[in-house]
Amino acid sequence: MKAIEIRNKYLNFFKNHGHSIIPSAPLIPENDPSVLFTTAGMQPLVPYLLGEPHPEGKRLTDYQKCVRTNDIDEVGDNRHLTYFEMLGNWSLGDYFKEESIKMSFEFLTKELGIPVEKLSVTVFEGDKDCPRDEVAAKCWKDVGILDGHIYYYGKDDNWWIAGEIGPCGPDTEMFYDTGKPACSPNCQPSCGCGKYVEIWNNVFMEYYKDEKGYTKLKQQNVDTGLGLERMTMLLQGKETPFDTEIFKPVMDKLLELQKADSVESRRIIAEHLRSSMMIISDGGRPSNLDRGYVLRRLIRRMIRHMNKLQIDLEKITELIDLNVDTLKELYPDLEKNRELIKAVIVEEKNKFVKTLDKGEREFNKEIEKIKAQGKTEITGEIVFRLYDTYGFPPEVTKDLAIENKMTISMNEFNELFKAHQEKSRAGANQKFKGGLASTGEMETKYHTATHLLNAALKQVLGPHVHQRGSNITEERMRFDFSHDSKMTEEEKKQTEDLVNKWISDAIPVEKLEMKKEEAIAMKAEAMFIEKYGDIVTVYKIGDISLELCGGPHVSNTSELGHFKIKKEESSSSGVRRIKAILE
Ligand code: ALA
Repeated sequence: MKAIEIRNKYLNFFKNHGHSIIPSAPLIPENDPSVLFTTAGMQPLVPYLLGEPHPEGKRLTDYQKCVRTNDIDEVGDNRHLTYFEMLGNWSLGDYFKEESIKMSFEFLTKELGIPVEKLSVTVFEGDKDCPRDEVAAKCWKDVGILDGHIYYYGKDDNWWIAGEIGPCGPDTEMFYDTGKPACSPNCQPSCGCGKYVEIWNNVFMEYYKDEKGYTKLKQQNVDTGLGLERMTMLLQGKETPFDTEIFKPVMDKLLELQKADSVESRRIIAEHLRSSMMIISDGGRPSNLDRGYVLRRLIRRMIRHMNKLQIDLEKITELIDLNVDTLKELYPDLEKNRELIKAVIVEEKNKFVKTLDKGEREFNKEIEKIKAQGKTEITGEIVFRLYDTYGFPPEVTKDLAIENKMTISMNEFNELFKAHQEKSRAGANQKFKGGLASTGEMETKYHTATHLLNAALKQVLGPHVHQRGSNITEERMRFDFSHDSKMTEEEKKQTEDLVNKWISDAIPVEKLEMKKEEAIAMKAEAMFIEKYGDIVTVYKIGDISLELCGGPHVSNTSELGHFKIKKEESSSSGVRRIKAILE
């Protein structure tokens, strides 16, 4: 069965069971700055899950375009995707566990024809917040799930919430037995060995969670999600989603175009191409901020892997055309936006090619330095800096190292990269969890950059420099400081270089609390010391900066990227103004 047939069957089935078919919301959430992309079908429905009446009634169904980027680095294996389609059905204070389970069972066994012995289900085992879900378990038994195929798990497995705060509840998950051998006598749905694959999740959403804990919602809802790509793969007996008609044409084309071989690279290209196309079609554009940055990363990663397979980058338009043709039945908007998608991806590709050129020049400078010192080793730190500051791919650095007969510490690089990844993943989770906070990731970075700039100006211009004001947006920082004359090109360059050096030095940013007197004694920088209470928060960046500040700040200067002064001008008498960006 093809993906489009599964989708149509699903929507028709639920329509025949009294559900209204609603359109997929855009991938880029409307009026919701708390998340980067729509990550589940329930997300656009939150107000209705909380009790607001939906114009289409109490039973809804749709296919929802979703992007989840937490596992972006895993793409390339046999299952991870950043874009996927979630089929869903909802009860907004209408049916609950029994009817939901009956419908799911009927759909899986009758409509999709899955034999009952291939199905296992899991239900919530109960804890202090919510009782053991004997109701769901009994429903499953009644519809015909086999003895020994019902498992009870705790909150880690059988509880669903988007992020940290919101409507939530116990869920019941359905698993498909692929027929692979059991990994151990104790092999079960939760073990993740690959024998059992989760196919559908029904959430019995009757709680609301906030910082204080759980409260009951006004109504009992059902929220379900079934991943289309995964179901398509299983029903077709394929090993990976890349073997289904959704990806196959592009995968085959890549095989034809490649001059070097890597199935992981082909998967990354095919997956990121689809994801980028869907995001662009829904209005996303590459940038250095939040969702724009995710798109930029997806496109750049795709280009890097095209390079790795030695595919002519001009072929990208051919690949886009092919993918529009492949996917337009599922997503007619792609046809409408075909030329736009091409223009955006090609422009980003061209920019990235320039980045690659710039990186190569930086690489050559490093090589000269290393040779001048009589050494032959490119340290992991250099590889990382080229990657982090110039976006220069480590695998390219490695190739160049070999050409230059240098040794290279990829292990050291991998360590640095891993540490960086953990940090940025923590950042991304933070964004998701603390999404309602007003200070975004970029603003936080600019905040820290302000402290570095303040310190750099003192070193370059003299100790008379103090902050006189600052203004930060997602796009840039403005910094006013005491100084009499226009800065020379040389002074600006020195200031930029110093800040960038501190960024590449990867200095931890520490938050300290102390008495105001203590901070004064330590000569901490402060704009209006009298404004602060007795206990003050001081941010310390190595030996470079000590400043009173409420934060928030990044935890390490390496997170900032590349600092660049765009403009230096007079602000008022004796006060200069710098506009700068992180890129
Ligand atoms: N919202 C539920 C999920 O994403 C259905 O799994």
